[in-house]
This record gives sequence, C-alpha cells and structure tokens, in this order.
Amino acid sequence: MDTASMVFLFSLTLVVCLRLSSPQQMPTELHNITEVLYLGSPFVQEALRRAVELTDAAYAHTNEKVKMSLSEGSVRPSDLLAQFKQTGPQTRAHIRAAEVLDNTVELIREMVYTHTHAHNMTMPNLTELLSAQDFETIMQASGCSSEMQRPICETDCLSDRYRSFTGQCNNRQYPLWGAANTPYHRWLPPEYEDALGAPRGWDPEHFYHNATLPPVRCVSQRVLYTHNENISLDSSLSHLLVEWGQWIDHDLGLTPQTPSTAAFRTGADCSRTCTRDSPCFPIQIPLSDPRTGIQSCMPFFRSAPSCVGTLPTRHRREQLNAITSFVDASMVYGSSDQSAADLRNLSSPLGLLALNPLHSDQGLALMPFLPRRQSHLDPCGPRPGQNTSEADTPPDEGNMTSCFQAGDSRANEHLGMIALHTLFLREHNRLAQELQELNPHWAPDTLYQEARKIMGAVHQILTWEHYLPRVLGEEVASELVPPYEGYTPQVNPSIANAFATAAFRFAHVTVQPVVTRLGPGYRPSPRHPTLPLHNSLFASWRVIQEGGIDPVLRGLLLSPAKLQVSDQMMVEELTERLFQAQGGLPFDLGALNLQRGRDHGLPGYGAWRRLCGLSDPSSEAELAAIMGNPTLAQKLLALYGTPQNVDVWVGAISEPLLPGGRVGPLLACLLAKQFRALRDGDRFWWQREGMFSRVQRTALQSVSLSRIICDNTHIRLVPPDPFIRTRRTEDLLPCTHPLIPLLNLSAWREPDTDPTCGSIPRIQPGYSLLCDNTVLYQCPLGFVLIGPSQVRCDPHTQQWKPAPPTCQDVDECAFSPSICPQNTQCHNTPGSFTCTEPGLASLSASSVAAAVVAVLGGAALMLLILTCYRRFFPMKSEHLWSPCCQRKN
Ligand code: HEM
Repeated sequence: MDTASMVFLFSLTLVVCLRLSSPQQMPTELHNITEVLYLGSPFVQEALRRAVELTDAAYAHTNEKVKMSLSEGSVRPSDLLAQFKQTGPQTRAHIRAAEVLDNTVELIREMVYTHTHAHNMTMPNLTELLSAQDFETIMQASGCSSEMQRPICETDCLSDRYRSFTGQCNNRQYPLWGAANTPYHRWLPPEYEDALGAPRGWDPEHFYHNATLPPVRCVSQRVLYTHNENISLDSSLSHLLVEWGQWIDHDLGLTPQTPSTAAFRTGADCSRTCTRDSPCFPIQIPLSDPRTGIQSCMPFFRSAPSCVGTLPTRHRREQLNAITSFVDASMVYGSSDQSAADLRNLSSPLGLLALNPLHSDQGLALMPFLPRRQSHLDPCGPRPGQNTSEADTPPDEGNMTSCFQAGDSRANEHLGMIALHTLFLREHNRLAQELQELNPHWAPDTLYQEARKIMGAVHQILTWEHYLPRVLGEEVASELVPPYEGYTPQVNPSIANAFATAAFRFAHVTVQPVVTRLGPGYRPSPRHPTLPLHNSLFASWRVIQEGGIDPVLRGLLLSPAKLQVSDQMMVEELTERLFQAQGGLPFDLGALNLQRGRDHGLPGYGAWRRLCGLSDPSSEAELAAIMGNPTLAQKLLALYGTPQNVDVWVGAISEPLLPGGRVGPLLACLLAKQFRALRDGDRFWWQREGMFSRVQRTALQSVSLSRIICDNTHIRLVPPDPFIRTRRTEDLLPCTHPLIPLLNLSAWREPDTDPTCGSIPRIQPGYSLLCDNTVLYQCPLGFVLIGPSQVRCDPHTQQWKPAPPTCQDVDECAFSPSICPQNTQCHNTPGSFTCTEPGLASLSASSVAAAVVAVLGGAALMLLILTCYRRFFPMKSEHLWSPCCQRKN
C-alpha cells in the first residue's frame, strides 16, 4: 500500500473513530515510522475497549440465559455439551484474554474494511495498520501477554521425581510443551477460509479445489448413519477396549468451547439462529433430513481460541488444550493445582482422594458430588421419560444426587466413564494406603504423589502395551512405535490438533448402541437392565440407585466392541440421540466431529495422506482403490466433489482396517505419531532411567486392568485379558488366579540405611523422604521444623550433614491476636490447642477426668438405688421385665 492511500485510509478510519470515541480519544497524529503510517494508539485503544465490552456482554448474556433455562427446569443438549466441556478458572481466564484479542483484531479489520471496501481499496494487512507498540499494547491489555509467560521451573530433587499438575516444566527448555491451557500442536498448517481463521465452510458457497463443502449433517446421514440393530460385533475385542480409548482421550485433550453462546456482535442466541456469526457456527439441517421442521439448524459453538505466539506474524486462530497432554492420569487428579487440591482429602494423613460422604457402593467408595447450582435441577439426575425399567425410580427429595466431581469435566458423560473414574479413584486410595503401611514415615503429600506416580505408570503401560497393539495391530504397532530408547527433549509431546479433532475420534464408530449391565455371576438382572446408550448419558444417579459400578464393568468386560464396517459406521444412538434431554434437538456426534474439524481449519483428507507418505487420491477410481469400496468412494465423491476436500475424520475412518488392527493406514500413521511423541517427549515416562528402580519397573510390568477391577470392586471373576472379548463366563478366572497377578509394592519400601552414611536419620514426630542421596523433612500440622529441611550424605566424612532437624510443637496460644474466641482460654496441646470457658480453664486435665468419673459414678449409684427400689416396690401396672431383674410372679 502506498503512502497516499494510507493517508486516505487514515482519514477514513478517523471518521470511524469520531463515531466511536469521545473527543479526547481521537487519534491526533499519524505515527510515521520509516515511511510506514500506522492507525495510532487511540484507534487501538478504542478497538480494545469495544472488544472487552462485546466479549463481556456476550458472557453475561450467556450466564443470564443459563440461569433462566435452569430456573425453568430445562436442560438442553447444548447445556449438556457445555457441562461436558466445562473448564476451570485458569482456562476461562486464558479464553477471555484470547477472545478479547481476537475481537480487537476483528474490530480493527472490520472498521478498516468497511472504509477501504467502500473506496475500492485492497484490505491492508495487520502489519501495515499497527505498529509493534500497538501489537504489544493489544497483547498486554487483552491479558494474552501474561497468559503466555514462560514459567520458572524448579530444579530440585522433587521436581525430577513428580510431575507438575499443569504439565508445565516437563520439558525444561520448552516448559509449556504439553502443558494445560496451551494451543494444540499443528502437524500441518491450518487451512481456514480467511486470514483470521473463519472455519472451512463458513460460507457454504466458498470453493475448495473447485467444489463447495457439503453440509456435515448430509455426510452424517448418507455415510455414517447406522440402525442400532444393524451392527456387526467385533469377534475378538471387548467393549472395555473402546472405553479405555475414551478414558485415555480424557487424559490427553479437552478442547473448550467459547463460554459465550451468544453472537459477539449481535448478542443473538446461537441455539436459536441459523446465522453464522462468531462464535455461532450452526449445523444446517438439510431438507432431506427427517428432523426438518423441528429446527432448521443444530447449534454449534466454535472452539475457544487461544493466545498464540506474538502478533502479528503468528496471528492465526489456534485452539486450546485445557488439560495436560501427557498420559499422567490427569482425568483423576486434575490439570491445575487448584483442582488437584479440591479433589484431595486434605485432612487425611494418608494422602487420599476425597470420597462421597453421602453414598457408597455397597461399602466401596464413590466420587464426591459437584456442588449443585440449583437444587431442583440436576443434569445428572433422571429425566422424564428416561425410565426403562420398574427399577427406575427417581431419587426421592432427601436423597438428591448430583454430577460426580473428578479431575475431568467429562466424568459423568456416560456410565462407562463414571465406572472407570470410580475404579481409579479407589485404586489411588488403595495404593496410598498400602504405601503408608510400607513407609509410615512418609508425609501425606509423599504418599499422594507416589500413588499418583504409580497411577501414571499404570496408565502408560496399559495404553502402550495392552491397548495400542490391539488398535494398530501387533505388527504395525511394533513398526510405528519401536521400543523405547530414552527421553528425547527435542520431541514436542503436545497433542496435535488433528489427533484430538479427527484421528483419536476414530473410536466413535466402535461404540455400541447399548450399555450392557450384568449382575453377580454376569447374569442379566432386572435391577439394572441393559440401557440404550442415550439413557446412560449424564445418568450418575443410576450408579447410586442401580447397583453401583459393578454391573457396568461386568457389561464392559463381557460385551464385544462394535466392529467398524464401511456401511455400518456410527450408530443412530450417537447420530440421532446424543445428549437427548428435556427439550431441544438432540445432537449428532458425526456431524459434530466434522463441523469441529472445519472449525479448527483441518486440511482435507489428501493433505494428511501426503503427510504420512501415503498415496494422495485424485479421482474416484483412486479413492475406491484406497477404500477398497467403490460404493463408499462414490458416495463420498457425490458429496465432496473431490477426494481433496473429504473431511479428514470421515476419510480416515472409511479406510479398510489393517491386518489385526482396528484402523486403516492413515489413522495408524497419525495415532502412532502422537503416541510416539507422548512417550519420547515425556521426561517422566515410566521406563526412563531414574524414574523407577529396576525392581519397581519389573513389578509394574505385571500391572493388569483385571487386577485393578479385582482390587477395587465386588467382582470376583475376571478375564485374564480384559480387552479381549470373553464369549463364555466359564472362561473367566477367579481373582486369586496366578494370571491375575497382584501389584507387589514391596519395592517401594524405602531403605532404612544408606550404603555410605548408614542409618537414615528419621525424626519423631515428623516425616522424611529419601530423594537421591538427600533426606527431606516435613513436620505434621501444628509443628514447626527447627533446623535444616534436608540433610545429605557426605561421602567423605560418611556422615549426614548438617545435623537433622526436629519438629517443635507450635504454641498456638502465643499467637496475637488470640486464636481462641473472646472470653475463652487457650490451651496448647502437642500439634494443636483447645479453647475453654474461663471457669473450666483452671482445671487440669486430671482434675477434669476425676470430675467426670465422679459424676458418672454418682449417676450409676442413683440408677442402682432406683432399680432396686422398683424391684421391691413395683408399680401396680408394671411387669418386671427389666433386664437386671428376674421375672417375679
Ligand atoms: C459413548 C461413547 C462416546 C460419546 C458419547 C462421546 C462423545 C463425544 C462428544 C460429545 C465429543 C465432543 C464433540 C465436539 O463438540 O467436538 C467428543 C469428543 C471426543 N471424543 Fe468422544 N465420545 C465417546 C467415545 C469416545 C471414544 C471411545 C473415543 C476414543 C477412543 C473418543 C474420543 C474423542 C475425542 C478424541 C474427542 C475430542 C476431545 C476434545 O478435543 O475435546 N470418544 N466425544
């Protein structure tokens, strides 16, 4: 753009500013930096001010609407999806910053565009409009600068031993790799519809490779839809394998959607409009759809943007992963310090997770409830018309249920998910208790962290050794994921956008339409019958009222997975009844997957094949050869026009399965690429030298999901391999069978002596932990550490240095102001204190005890006299049946 047109542009934008801002906010001068003319900071300030206003207004509007629909007692599918993707305060802060930034840039472009367009000028790009200082101002004012600050990483012994909750500092050089609240990694650059990140298909008339994109619901209906009854069953894999995939997915990625369900610019309700206006990206319902007439669009909210790179060069829309990428059991523990603390039982000395105080599963623990927002509305309670058996009785008022609270917001999504969350909550507590028996000197935090570390390893082993070979096929798995060779800090372990948005959703086509529940002996029971899948979604109340988690786990163990077949892709439970709730059109998971891919700007099928070194089809014949299915290729081309445009998720699941695996070549490549990066780029990978001792690693090798089920449920018969389909109950083994080995934790017993310095100095009362050649000390609550917090073995003197500390009782009564309420006296006790009324305060503990004995003795004497009086002088009407007297006639 030449200077003359820039000046012209400026005068135009001045007009905009005159309309928008007060006189003192006017741009008074044109910044002239080496011949480039910028809009000026008042203009930027104004755009920022309006962006904040629009963003906050949309959030407030959404909050009002949610409150209104809750008070009306309605839960719509979009409310359930929002509940499904709920995030914590850190994620919400990041999203707001990114949305303010996005809206600012959008406003600047919009204002300039209006005027340049009117005068037939080409739209200048951001670098031509804004100075480096302006960019800095926008980053600062939106909050993105602070969101993107590089964390400071500790380098002490504990930071080498335990992961952070956020995943930060796993990689010391790139501390945000794999961390929660960072953008997904891209294996291919996004292909949005415009420079700022409008989704593909935003304009239905937009051409890609000379063809428009078909409405996603059309693809779902024509290619995916399968009658619930018309499915083939997997001959060798169990439904628990499918469930494990979803469980691990919830460890790896959570893409939050924007908190606003109203259009930023107009405030229009996204769930009632067919207009595409960010963040509303509604899914159009085609005329051929049986749903036509109810609503013409299915609501869809764009995934939230993230703060990325530095403006302007890196300003393209990226989506956020709200949880840690690593396989670290974050769905159990949470992905922030706060949520980890919220999930703990902090008053237990055993490092336990908190349990449900109101309900148990026949004596075994359940997850705590989430705090309820409205007492009469329970998204996880029974919904009208949902009851399928006589056993289904809504919980009575005094026995209210709620959604369960876990490390991941999707815990309540369906009964299988609740069962796995509950199972691993119990497993953590079981491990922590066993570790405490082995190491009574460990602090609650140590017990918690050691149990968490074992849980992380268990998840890695079950996924890499048991799950992946079944999904990829043994041969492909060992080829694409070769044996571990050590930590590679250059590998970025962050979840890739295409993995979360397409590849790892492959298993949606292996989900059964029903949730099988089985009673003791794996027999069907009228108390917990098999349910259509949609009746199991957000149905936490069923766990409380219908026999706990055992029936669900037995069902997962004994029922087969659905087999992916090219003309039986996704069951109608998922395409027609997802999140069917009280009112509102149910969602279609197939359509959501496709629309999400477009929302994230994922390039088409061909580009991904090329990335994987596979052939890139350019004709129907070539596509048919890859799919091994001319009918399917024809269907896809009739919809998309060219193989290039086929949405990657549907293209990938259409490929025939590899021998012995459950995915085709493209999926195998993408899944293996991600799982390799997750392993090689993880500083805490369980096989990495120093993470566990050799003996501990050997013990961990024997881990088995069947054993975990035995140890934490009432189930006493299990299959030797729970991911393999069990056809007959006679093939199940008792939990005592040697093929269901116990996880032997004896290798976690800390040595009592050091080879050089001898006996490890422990302190009483107090906790200690041997970390490398250092002993770390902590005192229990109510005591203070006097002396060093750690001692080290000095190899020269063969002594522990310096001398170990002691734990000294804190005299809480010496605090000023007094820790006790007014008019009470404070008494210090070891580790605690008591507050007593002044009259009683002068009594010593022994005199209080003597007084209590005297009072009790007196009362007993009175009782005896009274009893004997009654015995000899009974009242007329009284029968002598008192227990201390014989019957007298
Ligand atoms: C009953 C079974 C399942 C249901 C009802 C279900 C439902 C959903 C829903 C509603 C979404 C969000 C869609 C969107 O808005 O984009 C989703 C996302 C996803 N699902 Fe499933 N799913 C199921 C099973 C599975 C399984 C078995 C896997 C993998 C093995 C899986 C992997 C994923 C992945 C990777 C995502 C994207 C997560 C994210 O980026 O936030 N799901 N699923």
